[in-house]
Amino acid sequence: MHYPAAMPVVRFPSRGLEIEVPPGTPLIEAIRGAGVPVASSCGDELLCAKCGVRILAGSVPREKPVERRAKRRNRVPDELRLSCALRVRSDLSVGADYWPSGA
Ligand code: FES
Repeated sequence: MHYPAAMPVVRFPSRGLEIEVPPGTPLIEAIRGAGVPVASSCGDELLCAKCGVRILAGSVPREKPVERRAKRRNRVPDELRLSCALRVRSDLSVGADYWPSGA
């Protein structure tokens, strides 16, 4: 018997939103899919580092050198992760300083 894989849930606590996405969805696409604004000026190519978000809960893979270099080049704080570099594999809660709560 085949059971469909569970869909990970991405939550946006400051906005009271959540969205289910297929496993492996780029986090930046999940954010856009929820209708939440996310900054980007490089076409999700890991260049601009404007797509940084805070991972509030859940697990994501360790940062790869390409993500680290993009963050350093653009002076992005270590604690932010670039949402175009991450794939959603399990439930996550995310936030960004420019997402006002309740907005
Ligand atoms: S969108 Fe430019 S680095 Fe993520």
